[in-house]
Amino acid sequence: MASRDPLDGARVVLGVTGSIAAYKAVMLASALHQAGAIVEVILTREAAELVRPLSFQAITHRPVHQEMFSLLAETEIGHVTLGHQADVVVVAPATAHTLARLALGLGDDLLATTVLATRAPLVIAPAMETNMLLHPATQGHLRTLRERGAVIVEPEAGHLASGARGVGRLAEPAVILDTVRVVLARRGDLAGWRVVVTAGGTQEPIDPVRVLANRSSGKMGFAVAQAARDRGAQVTLIVGATSVAPPHGVRVIEAPTARTMCEAVLRTIAEADALVMAAAVADYEAAAPAAQKIKKREERLVLELVPTPDILGTVAAQRAAGALPERLLVVGFAAESADLLTHAREKLRRKRLDLIVANDIMAAGSGFGTDTNQVVLLDRSGAERALPLLPKLDVAHALWDHVLALRQQEVRAR
Ligand SMILES: Cc1cc2nc3c(=O)[nH]c(=O)nc-3n(C[C@H](O)[C@H](O)[C@H](O)COP(=O)(O)O)c2cc1C
Repeated sequence: MASRDPLDGARVVLGVTGSIAAYKAVMLASALHQAGAIVEVILTREAAELVRPLSFQAITHRPVHQEMFSLLAETEIGHVTLGHQADVVVVAPATAHTLARLALGLGDDLLATTVLATRAPLVIAPAMETNMLLHPATQGHLRTLRERGAVIVEPEAGHLASGARGVGRLAEPAVILDTVRVVLARRGDLAGWRVVVTAGGTQEPIDPVRVLANRSSGKMGFAVAQAARDRGAQVTLIVGATSVAPPHGVRVIEAPTARTMCEAVLRTIAEADALVMAAAVADYEAAAPAAQKIKKREERLVLELVPTPDILGTVAAQRAAGALPERLLVVGFAAESADLLTHAREKLRRKRLDLIVANDIMAAGSGFGTDTNQVVLLDRSGAERALPLLPKLDVAHALWDHVLALRQQEVRAR
C-alpha cells in the first residue's frame, strides 16, 4: 500500500539557527528524509559555527543552503525560490535572535528572505535559555508570529545547556515531526472533520491495588487516531490503559474505566463527525470495589460483577432519539475469537452502527499487542470487505476510506 504519510513527497525547508540544540536538527532532518520529504536545509551563519553543513548534506542527499549573496546560488535557486517551492517551512531550533528577525520581517539572510517570500505554513520550534525565552521581548515576538499564523512547537522543560534546569529545551524531534504532519494535513481528505477515537483497555478497580483489565495495547486505536490526524481531522483520543504512547498532535482525554470512558464519549460526540470505538471496554465491573486492599486468606474469594455502561448501546439510543447530530458516523470494533462475522453482523445491527471492523483475535499476526491486523469491514448497507493482514496504520486508513465512502453515499442520496 502506498504511503499515506503527509510528509511523503512534501517539500520541507528546514531552517537551522545558532542554538546549541542545532545538533538535534540533524536528527530532525534525518527523520524528515526517512519519511519521504524533500528536505532543503538552510543554515544561518551562526548555526554553521555549531554544526557542520556536511552532516545535513549527507543525510538529506541535497546541497545545504547558506549564502544569499552567492552567484552560484542565485543562478540555480535564487534567494526566494526555496520559499516559493516549499510546502512547509520549519525553523528548528529557532534562536531568540531569529524569532525577533522573523517577527520584525527582516530579510538579512537566506532564511529570513525565504520566510518572507513563502506562502507556505511556518512551523517554529524555539530553543534557548529560560530567561531568554521568558524575556518580554521574546514572548512578544512569539505572540506576533502566532497571531500571523505560525505554529509554535512549545519548548520543553528539562536540562539546559547552561547546566540549569528550566523551560527552553528544543521539543523532541518526534514532536516537531508530528506537528509538521498536522500542518501539511490541512489539505487532507478529512480536513474539517472532528473525530473521536477510543483506544486501549479499561481497568475496573477491585480494590485500591487490583484491577480487572484486558490485553488491549492501544495500538489499533492509536493507528486510527494517527491516520485521521494525518488526513487533516481534528482528533480527540479517549484513552484507557495502554502499553504504547499515544500519537502527538491529537487531544488526549484519559478515561481509565468503562464509566469514565462512557462519560468522555458522550461529552465529546455532540460536536463530532465520526466516532470510532476501538477501545476494549470491560463488560463487567466489581459490584462494590473494596475501599482497602483485600487481604489474602485461606478461603475462596467470590467477586460479584455487574455490567458496565454499554457505550455503543447508549450512543445508539441517543441517535434513535435524535439527540445526536445526524452527520455523526459511528464505527465499532468486534474483537472475536469465534464466529467472527456472525457476531459482527449482529453487533452492527443491534448497535445501529454505520461500520464495524471485525477482528479475528485468534488469527496469526492479528489482535492484541501486534503491529498488524487482519479485519473485515462490514457496513450498514450490507457491504463486506475482507482485508489481508496489514500494518495497523494501513487498516486504519482503509477504515477512514470506508467512512469517507459512506459520507459520499449520504451526500449523493440527498
Ligand atoms: C555555544 C552557543 C550556544 C548558543 N545557544 C543559543 C540558544 O540555544 N538559543 C538562542 O536563542 N541563542 C543561542 N546562542 C546565541 C545565538 O547564537 C546568537 O544570538 C546568534 O546571533 C543567533 O543567530 P541566528 O539566529 O541568525 O542563527 C548561542 C551562542 C553560542 C555561542
